Amino acid sequence: MSITFVLKDGTKKVVTFEEGQTVLQVAEKSRIKLNSNCEGFGVCGGCHVKIENLLDKLPEISEKEDDTLDKVSGVGMNSRLACQVVLNSSLDGLVVKLV
Ligand code: FES
Repeated sequence: MSITFVLKDGTKKVVTFEEGQTVLQVAEKSRIKLNSNCEGFGVCGGCHVKIENLLDKLPEISEKEDDTLDKVSGVGMNSRLACQVVLNSSLDGLVVKLV
């Protein structure tokens, strides 16, 4: 299973993932830098990404994630925190854009 990250310069990087990993963990293992400052606890907002497809397959947004996104600038309808999106097989082929 794989995710495509779209980097800030538009470069695409395809990386594999295992079920149960978060988007942040997959990015870090692939040396893709997100500005995560809370070690994945969902409170800093630094891992803000935009999901480009499969939006209906994403796990529901929690109250904590929603509260944190409220404090982040540039948030859109497809914004998520990479540390809060736990991957499963239905998210194979996910496209994640860094912002
Ligand atoms: S790493 Fe801080 S909100 Fe995701």
